[in-house]
Amino acid sequence: MHKILFVCLGNICRSPAAEGVFTHLVRESGLDQNFQIDSCGITGFHAGEMADIRMRDHADRRGVELASISRKFALEDFKKFDLIIAMDNRNFKDLYELDHSKEYREKIVMFCDYCETRPEKEVPDPYYGGADGFEEVLDIVEDASKGLLKSLSV
Ligand code: 4NP
Repeated sequence: MHKILFVCLGNICRSPAAEGVFTHLVRESGLDQNFQIDSCGITGFHAGEMADIRMRDHADRRGVELASISRKFALEDFKKFDLIIAMDNRNFKDLYELDHSKEYREKIVMFCDYCETRPEKEVPDPYYGGADGFEEVLDIVEDASKGLLKSLSV
């Protein structure tokens, strides 16, 4: 069983997209039984909310439903998950700092490290931008999701 947690700042745009796209890919590959997939935010500003309507609309158009409800990262998540995947450098740094014991640093990784074709090192925050930003998030997330699944299927 692979236990995967995607993390961004608000858990209403990037990490719900990553959770939705990766879950979709895992289902298509018939590997559902082998995965537990979740997402959360460094902040709880949007806790209890569905993903941003713009993110949901853009994902819908690619046949991906985003069903997650926003929640804040909890310290127990370090124990519960095998891989804690940050969307950007700030998320990565925040997670590192929350790991006071330094016990879990090997679990904390950058999502873009799994990209196969996209050159980005981070998934950019689309919240204050336009439609292009949401499309770009999905392009990067799809590429990184494929690489992540390959890395876990070997
Ligand atoms: P996310 O995007 O981290 O991809 O969910 C954001 C959503 C909300 C805010 C910032 C980023 N906000 O400041 O409310």
